Amino acid sequence: CGIVGYVGTKNCVPILLSGLKRLEYRGYDSAGVAVIDIDKSKIDIVKTKGRLTILEEKLNQNPIEGFVGIGHTRWATHGEPSDENSHPHVSQSGKIAIVHNGIIENYLKLKEFLIKKGYTFSSDTDTEVVAHLIEYYYDGDILDAFIKTLEKIQGSYALGVLCLDRPDMILAARKDSPLIVGLGQGENFIASDIPAILEYTRNTYILEENEIAIVTKDKVEIVNTEKEPVKKEVFHVTWDVSSAEKGGYEHFMIKEIMEQPKAIRDTLTGRLPDSGFEVNLDGINITKEDLQKLNKIFIVACGTAYHAGIVGKHVIEKLTRIPVEVDIASEFRYRDPIVDENTLTIVISQSGETIDTLVAMREAKARGSRTLGIVNVVGSSIAREVDDCLYTWAGPEIAVASTKAYTTQLICLYLIALDFATKLGTISYEEFANIRDEIKRLAEKVEYVLTHKENIQKYASEHFNAKDIFYLGRGLDFAVAMEGSLKLKEISYIHSEAYAAGELKHGTIALIEDGTFVIALATQEKLFEKMVSNIKEVKSRGAVVLSVAQEGNTDIENVSDHVLYIPRTLDILAPVLTVVPLQLFAYYTAVQRGCDVDKPRNLAKSVTVE
Ligand code: G6P
Repeated sequence: CGIVGYVGTKNCVPILLSGLKRLEYRGYDSAGVAVIDIDKSKIDIVKTKGRLTILEEKLNQNPIEGFVGIGHTRWATHGEPSDENSHPHVSQSGKIAIVHNGIIENYLKLKEFLIKKGYTFSSDTDTEVVAHLIEYYYDGDILDAFIKTLEKIQGSYALGVLCLDRPDMILAARKDSPLIVGLGQGENFIASDIPAILEYTRNTYILEENEIAIVTKDKVEIVNTEKEPVKKEVFHVTWDVSSAEKGGYEHFMIKEIMEQPKAIRDTLTGRLPDSGFEVNLDGINITKEDLQKLNKIFIVACGTAYHAGIVGKHVIEKLTRIPVEVDIASEFRYRDPIVDENTLTIVISQSGETIDTLVAMREAKARGSRTLGIVNVVGSSIAREVDDCLYTWAGPEIAVASTKAYTTQLICLYLIALDFATKLGTISYEEFANIRDEIKRLAEKVEYVLTHKENIQKYASEHFNAKDIFYLGRGLDFAVAMEGSLKLKEISYIHSEAYAAGELKHGTIALIEDGTFVIALATQEKLFEKMVSNIKEVKSRGAVVLSVAQEGNTDIENVSDHVLYIPRTLDILAPVLTVVPLQLFAYYTAVQRGCDVDKPRNLAKSVTVE
């Protein structure tokens, strides 16, 4: 989502619109503005589902004007894209309007509380509770009410707040979602992203957690939750618009790789309670009885999502003992698959619009199968048509080569496997708790892998001229090898193959010659020794081997030319960590080769034709 806000002496509407336009590159499903009208008698709200041009048309038909306003572009998480679910949201009396990025984790509890207090809700969003809650606490001091609300809400947020009683001011705060204040002359701004305000100012405050910005036209005060002033340094932006859109990175792909810890945390928000023996999967209503009826699960997807599905197969089978078949959507459709009312079909799609996946899902449905989607884009075709839908909360993914969507798809698959296993009783509490606790550490471990990205950049600079690169692995490492190889092919155009390491000797090894570069994944503890043997096989034919292993397995250094270590974790969770160096390797290799990383030749982000 995107946020922009303005306080000054000009009509804010065109400024808000131009700010929102600058955020358009991120993709969104609805947009809106809230403006304190010129005679300060009311807050005008205009919002709509769809693109910004629709909002502009609406504003042209019913022009509004004012000196203080907030605007928003929405990327839905709770509640489908619709006029009602669009931001800004207003409190019951219409006195308070807010825009929000992020996810309010405890919104259902707060909503119940507010309904009891007589509040009525006009949207399905998690955001609307914040507007009502501020009003509930409001007794003349909007800052107090805002602070009390912040104490009550859990989850992630960047918030911009208007209050009719303070028509000169915007309040803003953030937690785990970025927010900046733009400093102008006789005018000030808030925004979720720098491009939104770059046209007007390059001086900003970057808000930190627990800081609240009180923004008027002549003054910006930053206070903490005790209302004590906080001293801020001005951050002067030197980026041009195009690098600002990428958060200062050179490409969207690297930005999205770096966003993975956040994307994983967001996808876990509220779904994996710290205690108890259950998973909270909003959007999935599959009961124990439904699961007991199943004789098979199909996972159907394309591209990277298909690779996530292969990991899903291992994990679901291991934890639930239900047989799982994984199929490429375009194959599934035409091969008369054995699917009936005792089959569950899981479809995985970042965009939710991939035509092969969509039609495969319809095919499964037509044969009586229940369908479950793992989708990133809320309200997309697949999300709308499946019986149950679990969203990855990765945020918009812009680079064609998928990265954060993949890791969050894995997280969703773990959650589904755990949910099914607890319902079926195929997992002990100890095992459940062990996996749960390790899942919660994944984001931090991905962060650790990312801090060592320069090592990978070095290997890329040594091997970017390779003609072929082979990826080997066993078990889950083979699934990740396929994804690593795909990333490399997609963006660097180097020929590459992924092989099940044990299958090498049945043919592929003939391709290994002196100097062939091989990436060997050896993160699966149970298969470690076997992988070491396979590495020896290729080494003795002259291969140069870069191995990836869990920390502590230093034996691998004896058989490899280079080794990259990932932090220790459970074997089934290792793919989330193992894929990261492979994404980085593909990225740096493509950069070295001068390729168009974000828009590789011949590829499209979302393939909506057969
Ligand atoms: C396209 C993209 C791939 C993606 C695949 C499936 O081919 O280039 O990166 O993995 O579609 O997309 P979906 O949106 O269904 O996950």
